[in-house]
Amino acid sequence: MMMKKLVLILFVILFSLSNCQEITVDPWIFQERVSLFDNLLEIHLPLVFGESNENNCLYGLPLQLNWQNRSGRLNGAMTNGKYRIDEYSWWADMNYYLSVIPYLAAMELNMVPQVNIVPPRFMNASLFCLTYEKCNKTVMDNWVNYFRLLRNLQQGQQNNSGTVEEMNKQLLEIMWIAHTGSINHALMTFNTQLNLYNVKESKFGFGWANFVEILSIINFNTNYTQVSAMEIALPFRLLKWYDFPPLISDLPEPQQVIVSTMFDIADVSKTIFWEPFLDSLRNIVKNPRCQEMLNRQLQAFVYHPVNTLLFILKDIILSCPQ
Ligand SMILES: *[C@@H]1O[C@H](CO)[C@@H](O)[C@H](O)[C@H]1NC(C)=O
Ligand SMILES: *[C@@H]1O[C@H](CO)[C@@H](O)[C@H](O)[C@H]1NC(C)=O
Ligand SMILES: *[C@@H]1O[C@H](CO)[C@@H](O)[C@H](O)[C@H]1NC(C)=O
Ligand SMILES: *[C@@H]1O[C@H](CO)[C@@H](O)[C@H](O)[C@H]1NC(C)=O
Ligand SMILES: *[C@@H]1O[C@H](CO)[C@@H](O)[C@H](O)[C@H]1NC(C)=O
Repeated sequence: MMMKKLVLILFVILFSLSNCQEITVDPWIFQERVSLFDNLLEIHLPLVFGESNENNCLYGLPLQLNWQNRSGRLNGAMTNGKYRIDEYSWWADMNYYLSVIPYLAAMELNMVPQVNIVPPRFMNASLFCLTYEKCNKTVMDNWVNYFRLLRNLQQGQQNNSGTVEEMNKQLLEIMWIAHTGSINHALMTFNTQLNLYNVKESKFGFGWANFVEILSIINFNTNYTQVSAMEIALPFRLLKWYDFPPLISDLPEPQQVIVSTMFDIADVSKTIFWEPFLDSLRNIVKNPRCQEMLNRQLQAFVYHPVNTLLFILKDIILSCPQ
């Protein structure tokens, strides 16, 4: 009798334990990383993002991951029936800071399901934090700020937010602080991985990481429309050491312009001219007319890259009062 009761109690305890066990997510399995994005995109603000959610500025993140996969940059492979991302891929490592990291911030605010993140199998686990507490506080707080603003807007608490356009602008600004914070931190962390590529791919990656700073200053909207348009102009394969834009025979012209632009940015960003250049941009975006012009030109560039971007920006800087 006693024994039966004990077994019953044990059963109840085990049952309830297994029920409150959290979901486990392995971000090195492609589909599971995608599921993190799915949950993040479910944090909806129809007033600003539209009923279709296509103006949600986090749309840029899954679209980027898809391009990275399609172009071979994640170096994925089937392992035990699952499509795994290569931990040594620099693009995949950088993306960890734009998938798992924002997820953990949203999770801290209880805005997405609680999950346990699985550590990497091969790489030094200290490079990939698994919980809010273990991650870099500055990087996390920037993302928490974004999701907190989003929640406040959802609850209609942000009273000084004004029009839909102003709300969207404010969300973008806070998102870009978090986004560039993640990238800059990851860029330092994964320098070794970047240098595993041939000289052209690593130059492209480095240029890309710095290009994001320009997008941030211009407060570029990374919604579905804009990022899916940009995807088309991104190189469909990894670069080879002998790729010289604009003479890469198998790359469509827009992709060559993008590659040239990233090479330019990679070169300039290593010089003393880069910071003054960014400062000029920061100055002229304060002028609404110039901000408008920059946004238009950047959009035109992203949709149909013809001239390399630095060239275009130089012209705008020269024509704008500082
Ligand atoms: C995405 O952003 C661009 C630029 O702000 C805007 O013109 C476009 O309408 C937005 N897309 C959606 C679906 O709202
Ligand atoms: C990821 O890339 C692989 C290889 O290019 C491709 O077979 C697969 O369909 C891609 N998956 C997605 C979801 O795009
Ligand atoms: C992992 O990285 C940490 C910090 O970067 C370092 O202290 C540690 O020695 C590394 N561990 C291994 C096994 O390389
Ligand atoms: C919020 O703004 C509305 C009008 O925009 C105003 O009527 C209301 O008093 C404000 N509420 C708070 C708490 O400031
Ligand atoms: C967190 O990251 C910031 C920015 O990358 C850096 O300045 C700071 O030293 C980091 N903090 C710790 C505790 O590593």
